[in-house]
Amino acid sequence: MVRLPTALLAACGLLAGRALGALDVDLDDPESIKKAAALVAEDLLSFYRGDEPGWVPGILPGPPPDGDYYWWQGGAMWGTLLDYRNVMKDDTYDDTIFTALQFQVGDEKDYNPANWSASMGNDDQAFWAFAALIAAETGFRDPAPEQPQWLALAQAVFNEQTNIDRRVEGGNCDWGLRWQVYRTNNGFDYINTVANACYFNIGARLHRYTDNSTYGELAEKTWDLMWRLGYITEDYDVYDGAHLPDCKGINKAQFSYNAAMLLQGSAFMYNATESDEWKERVEGMTKGIIRVFFAKDGIAYEPSCEPPPGSCNADMESYRGYMHRWMANTIQMAPFLRDTILPVLKTSAAAGVKQCTGGDNGRMCGFHWTTGQYDGQLSASLEMNVLGALTALMMPDVAPPLTNTTGGTSKGDPDAGQTKTELPTFSPITTGDKAGASILTILIITGALSAFAWMSLD
Ligand SMILES: *[C@@H]1O[C@H](CO)[C@@H](O)[C@H](O)[C@H]1NC(C)=O
Ligand SMILES: *[C@@H]1O[C@H](CO)[C@@H](O)[C@H](O)[C@H]1NC(C)=O
Ligand SMILES: *[C@@H]1O[C@H](CO)[C@@H](O)[C@H](O)[C@H]1NC(C)=O
Ligand SMILES: *[C@@H]1O[C@H](CO)[C@@H](O)[C@H](O)[C@H]1NC(C)=O
Repeated sequence: MVRLPTALLAACGLLAGRALGALDVDLDDPESIKKAAALVAEDLLSFYRGDEPGWVPGILPGPPPDGDYYWWQGGAMWGTLLDYRNVMKDDTYDDTIFTALQFQVGDEKDYNPANWSASMGNDDQAFWAFAALIAAETGFRDPAPEQPQWLALAQAVFNEQTNIDRRVEGGNCDWGLRWQVYRTNNGFDYINTVANACYFNIGARLHRYTDNSTYGELAEKTWDLMWRLGYITEDYDVYDGAHLPDCKGINKAQFSYNAAMLLQGSAFMYNATESDEWKERVEGMTKGIIRVFFAKDGIAYEPSCEPPPGSCNADMESYRGYMHRWMANTIQMAPFLRDTILPVLKTSAAAGVKQCTGGDNGRMCGFHWTTGQYDGQLSASLEMNVLGALTALMMPDVAPPLTNTTGGTSKGDPDAGQTKTELPTFSPITTGDKAGASILTILIITGALSAFAWMSLD
């Protein structure tokens, strides 16, 4: 897109008899989509400071109150950019992405760095594993042999989450994956959909990539659990989760990313197994998602928090970008759904782009796509959404995710990850440091209790 001076753009808009968004894009023209997406990627990275001195590589500014974003959204952003770079063939951010994904691996090479223990959920860890999986599936540059490899990182997360000390043993919730990793964290007793759906998704993709059916069996076991508990219903509504001791009294809030990660995982299971059972599930998930999250004129909408006055937090505001990408990925894995999914992605993307008229550059995006108007918000989540929506339009026409036998080069380690989940111990400290350290611990724990009930409605 040629960037015209704002005054001229405004004049053109007037002449055309409509408000002309600065992010004008012809959704039927791949070149036009690419140019618009490049601008949105640039705007997204304008929120990232991790490549500047004094900031931590890999993460967006935060967590609150130090900035708007939690640790997991860094992983979500790199996943978004990895899909973008692969689909649009733009390597501008390769070094930034690579550095970020290696910096946050943590001491045990499992995307569980000690800094974030106080708020570490299985879902948080998984969003970084998703990015590592995309790196493996799209042939992103492999790290040097002595560095952690993409496939092994995803396996480490999966193996740790398979471990019983992250799970419930016995009773109605048996084998449910807990939301939080550590028992000291708020939400350790919440057996929610997002944690289990993340695990399911990683398992389905590891199954297809490695052709090791153990991953698929564990993924299927997880699907069966969520079905039995009623987290996924016969109409393919997807609820948020329930607490111990019995996983009853389900919180019926529906969020687009929960459903979309189940959809994507089902599509990988279908592609790997070609079974009628997974065909039915991926089809059911597709219909459910379109019914629940695109009910308003075919435009992405979060029914559980978006209706006025609106209660979506910064996390919830980012879900639809993932949904668009994972629906597009589903078309690659289950091409029979193309004509059902693609028109929806297009209508919704058009609405997403239309409201990107904000900020100093006149093209920043807001959250409320169905209104057709920019809502005055500025955030990385909102740029990620539109970048995801544009990327999704072209994803079905690029090469499908690689596997170990179709060009994937990422080296795995089936035994990666720690065998036990323990709170990190810090290196021995001198007596002089102790007072300070315990104050720090108190601050961390207080912070965890007050600020970290964030990712789902616990
Ligand atoms: C952990 O926090 C310290 C102090 O802010 C920082 O220097 C370090 O880079 C962080 N590490 C990670 C992996 O975030
Ligand atoms: C397959 O995956 C399982 C589960 O992680 C693992 O225990 C096993 O070693 C893997 N098998 C191979 C051949 O890699
Ligand atoms: C699996 O994915 C490949 C690559 O997109 C596709 O060609 C194939 O048709 C898919 N398999 C099924 C059963 O749809
Ligand atoms: C692919 O899988 C085979 C068989 O499990 C293994 O020998 C090979 O090392 C794998 N290739 C890569 C690149 O991991």
